[in-house]
Amino acid sequence: MADELKSRDGVSCQVVDPGQLRLPFPGQKAPGEDGEKLRMLVSEATGVVLATPEYHGSLSSVMKLVVENLGFPSVLAGKPVALLGVAAGQIGAIKSLEALEAMVREGGG
Ligand SMILES: Cc1cc2nc3c(=O)[nH]c(=O)nc-3n(C[C@H](O)[C@H](O)[C@H](O)COP(=O)(O)O)c2cc1C
Repeated sequence: MADELKSRDGVSCQVVDPGQLRLPFPGQKAPGEDGEKLRMLVSEATGVVLATPEYHGSLSSVMKLVVENLGFPSVLAGKPVALLGVAAGQIGAIKSLEALEAMVREGGG
């Protein structure tokens, strides 16, 4: 996805690996500035792609934490958001994408 976006004229794309971020759980004191940096980055983006593996029939816990750190109402509100899922099973990442879509819509994204 990132390679495809970067291949387009006039399009820049920044990949964020949430595994490299120190994000607080809701209600916890932020361990650093990563949550604020993530919200700023998303606020400034024209559009966002959220990607998750399917884990135990749902989205990965780190992607849920990312969405939780985007605020409620979410900084995704009003932006085009594309969802990308990968899974090992024959029906693909349908269940994780349904759950992720519901979360994004609930936050106003
Ligand atoms: C903890 C865990 C739970 C998983 N649960 C599911 C699942 O419920 N359904 C599924 O299709 N794949 C499941 N998988 C497989 C992952 O979706 C798959 O490994 C992931 O998409 C990455 O692909 P790769 O292992 O080929 O790199 C699970 C993998 C792990 C590690």
